[in-house]
Amino acid sequence: MAVLPIRMIGDPVLRRPAERLSPERLASAEVQAFIDDLVETMKAANGAGLAAPQVGRSWAIAAVHVQDNPRYPYKPNVPLTIFVNPTLTPLDDETALLYEGCLSVPDLRGRVPRHMAVQVDALDRHGQPIRLTARGLTAGTFQHEFDHLEGRLFVDRVVDASTLCTWDNFDRFHREAFVAEARAIVQRYGG
Ligand code: NI
Repeated sequence: MAVLPIRMIGDPVLRRPAERLSPERLASAEVQAFIDDLVETMKAANGAGLAAPQVGRSWAIAAVHVQDNPRYPYKPNVPLTIFVNPTLTPLDDETALLYEGCLSVPDLRGRVPRHMAVQVDALDRHGQPIRLTARGLTAGTFQHEFDHLEGRLFVDRVVDASTLCTWDNFDRFHREAFVAEARAIVQRYGG
């Protein structure tokens, strides 16, 4: 296994819709080894998720994993989930403005509207169909990773550019208020 270099905003691979994989291709040793590297890279970088284009592969594969994450301490834990060829469906019209960050967008956060309940249909790494419902902050995490597979970054969805801030200034000026909002979201939506 290897920790792969993370591609940064401006790299065209981040802007390309990722290629869907056939079950045969997904089962190949090359892709399976890549998935191990994707997970290792996500963990090494303390990411809440990581999508294949972020490490230079235009494949429709992403991972989400939150375990007492130091980058996002207010996010509820999410077991390691690999999803391949996903579709994402909002389950209702409720949205919230979440502060997001991204390993491919260094030192920037901003507020992004996200659906508070989504269904993800995908394949797991073994090619088995999976369907999961994500709510609250976790729904936001899945939408962020799904966007990567469509060539979108969170900055594309920032409605009010005056919310953009460095991580340092997030901590200094916005963290306290947002953590209170995040707690209310977890309480209300359970994720
Ligand atoms: Ni990201």
